[in-house]
Amino acid sequence: MSNLKEILLNKKVCKSVWFMRQAGRYLPEFREIRSQNQNFINLCLNSNLSSEITLQPIKRFDLDSAIIFSDILMVPYALGQNVNFVKDQGPKLDDFNVKKFLNNDIISFTEKLHPVYKAIQISRDKLSKKKSLIAFAGAPWTLLIYMLGAKQTKKEIQYKIIEDKQFEVNLILDKISDYLCTHLENQVNAGADVVQIFDSWAGLITKENLPSYCYIPNLKIVDFCKRKKIPVICFPKGIKENYKEFNNVVKPNGLNLDYDVEPLWAQQNLTNVVLQGGLNPKFLLLPEQEMFKQAEKYLKTFKDLPYVFNLGHGLLPETDPDKVKKLINFFREY
Ligand code: CP3
Repeated sequence: MSNLKEILLNKKVCKSVWFMRQAGRYLPEFREIRSQNQNFINLCLNSNLSSEITLQPIKRFDLDSAIIFSDILMVPYALGQNVNFVKDQGPKLDDFNVKKFLNNDIISFTEKLHPVYKAIQISRDKLSKKKSLIAFAGAPWTLLIYMLGAKQTKKEIQYKIIEDKQFEVNLILDKISDYLCTHLENQVNAGADVVQIFDSWAGLITKENLPSYCYIPNLKIVDFCKRKKIPVICFPKGIKENYKEFNNVVKPNGLNLDYDVEPLWAQQNLTNVVLQGGLNPKFLLLPEQEMFKQAEKYLKTFKDLPYVFNLGHGLLPETDPDKVKKLINFFREY
């Protein structure tokens, strides 16, 4: 077992485990805190509670890394766009306002997110030095989907909204990366030692638009992280065989596979990068032996490589925490 930061920087042939959305809705101890804190953004701004939630899965499962409890939508929030979480509908943001967006500055942005940095400080102090603390941000494209209101129901995306708002799309893609880089650097200064960039909606981008909407915006952030010596993992979810081009262009330290990427294909095509994840979170809902069989596919394929055991997307709310425990034990004994 080795520290995540070391694996990413030195490509050490070691294994490590953490799960996306490891802190959250499937944990009764999270639901307890959540039931007393109806406003999700305010919960993310409560440094003590955010830190407590961050450490809950570490206490329960002794995972190798903690990911800070926050949300990718804290950035639009700090840029002046109010965020509401409507039950069963997902997040809803106030209408995007060009003038308001352009009136932001890095100093007030950083001030608004201070509670997140404070939560990182508290978590780092309480976390064993052997474990990594992961900070994160949404990629520009994924954030603009929410900022322009293109995500209206749980499943659907209104691509037409994006086509009709080319000026706003270009403006956000051009301006937001400075804020994202600042946010990542602030989180590292507060005590995080690895960062992950979530491009959850990259799979919606047409092939011809992938360079301008996905590769280049991710590359800008990855290059910034490299200059600052911050190990960075990218997650361009849903781009299928384009993972190869993404990896060759963006060259992150780590690359999270989604559950559509075949592990063998990944092993042969995604080189010079530390691979992470891939396992479908739905497999944690299957009977134990079936779940182990699926997990083994990844562990076998990446046996002689550095590999971070994780999922192909976040843990589902209906996941049984005991299943998570069993999966971690299976990984450790493998
Ligand atoms: O444990 C962790 O992974 C750290 C915390 C974390 C959250 N959100 C907490 C959260 C992380 C890394 C995120 C990232 C995030 N947020 C993404 C990228 C990853 C992905 O899932 O694709 C996205 C797209 C969001 C936006 C977002 N936040 C949505 C769509 C929702 C509502 C539906 C959902 O997935 O739960 C949230 C709310 C949210 N963020 C919750 C948690 C624990 C649930 C809040 C609740 O209890 O209602």
